[in-house]
Amino acid sequence: MISDNSTLFIGEFVRHMQPTRFQEKGGSYAPGLVGLTKRLPTRFGRGKSYPHDIGKKGRLMGLSKTIWSKPTELLRTQQPENPVLFFAPAILQGMARRFIQGFPGLVTYAVKSNPDEAVIQNLDAAGIRGYDVASIYEIELIRRVAPGAAMHYHNPVRSRSEIARAVELGVTSYSVDSRTELAKLAEAVPAEGAEISVRFKLPVEGAAYNFGAKFGATAEKAVELLTEVARLGYTPSLTFHPGTQCTDPMAWDSYLRAAADITRDAGVKIARLNVGGGFPSHRLADVTPALEPIFELIDRVTTEAFGDDRPALVCEPGRAMVAESFSLATRVRAVRDRGHVFLNDGVYGGLAELPIIGIIDRVEVVDADGAIRKGAPEPRIVFGPTCDSVDRLPGELNLPSDIAEEDYVIFHGMGAYSTVTNTRFNGFGEMEIATAMSLRD
Ligand SMILES: Cc1ncc(COP(=O)(O)O)c(C=O)c1O
Repeated sequence: MISDNSTLFIGEFVRHMQPTRFQEKGGSYAPGLVGLTKRLPTRFGRGKSYPHDIGKKGRLMGLSKTIWSKPTELLRTQQPENPVLFFAPAILQGMARRFIQGFPGLVTYAVKSNPDEAVIQNLDAAGIRGYDVASIYEIELIRRVAPGAAMHYHNPVRSRSEIARAVELGVTSYSVDSRTELAKLAEAVPAEGAEISVRFKLPVEGAAYNFGAKFGATAEKAVELLTEVARLGYTPSLTFHPGTQCTDPMAWDSYLRAAADITRDAGVKIARLNVGGGFPSHRLADVTPALEPIFELIDRVTTEAFGDDRPALVCEPGRAMVAESFSLATRVRAVRDRGHVFLNDGVYGGLAELPIIGIIDRVEVVDADGAIRKGAPEPRIVFGPTCDSVDRLPGELNLPSDIAEEDYVIFHGMGAYSTVTNTRFNGFGEMEIATAMSLRD
């Protein structure tokens, strides 16, 4: 164990007691919904002050500034019964620097993918100066943790009270994909110094699922909206999201060329072009996604498509920025007769995304003494802890033949959409977050 005095902002090793402590303070939880780790109660919080109460509480919770050298050190000595998410700040800062060095424009971070304060602090320390925010909670979080940073309120649907609060908090950059939402913005956001980015969509493949099903104007509609944004006196920009975990760089090629066509058809020169989110993280052992070729393609195609009218570029990765800096250690509750493996976490917890995005097979299995299991890989059906039969990881996962009860299965690349989507269904989902220097043995 190492005590911290480094420049990395460490997460805290926390025994998660929030439900009790929060309830002691007179709060109540939405039954079956709350299940968040130390300071991530937004999605399920009720009442305006709730997230902040928890935030303050989190800091008062007797946190020990402990950094473990690697996950097995904690697993072996503490024998945790609940899942543990290990956070390696150095890996996060390394990824932020990789984006800053490689991406030909401003790198912002999509807070939704993991809003842990330690994540924001480390990104800030690594030089990230802008954030994609989707809610008032996220805006207030960034104001508090990274006060000088730019915020792009890129959830294209907002209530009037949310818009008013965002204006109060100094947000000057918004996205829009419909006339009705543009009219709402125009009533509340002073045009002077404010940017509105029209979000458009294309029917392109390459991502894990279709993001255009919910947000994005068609190219034709985007032309209308962009013209209107400029007429209203806002700084006109464009934005798109090719879909999360987008492994085909050609998706960006299509979007960039379509963006240039939209600006020409609208007769509007845009200030900035935001190319999303969507950058892939490493999920399958045999497929390492390469970010740099995507950055290079974006740079080249923007120049080809826009020529002298090339806009400034912005990206807003969530998954690819944060995934690699967290590993999730789950414990084997049972290995049943037919070889089915039951873990203490599943699709209602930190593994919620797997049925949507696909399996993560970057796993290591260690025994209770922290020794790596070396048995030959065997395909296993893996279930989570709840009584729901859909609480099963997709397909089969190759696990060592000698896997046994009370072993730990460590999933790597688990930082995105894991803490935030964790629930307390069936009374499971209590989770610790621990900081580690390294996520591997
Ligand atoms: C507007 C916007 N930007 C960025 C992101 C982050 O996407 P990803 O995690 O795929 O990088 C999202 C995800 O939903 C989004 O909605």
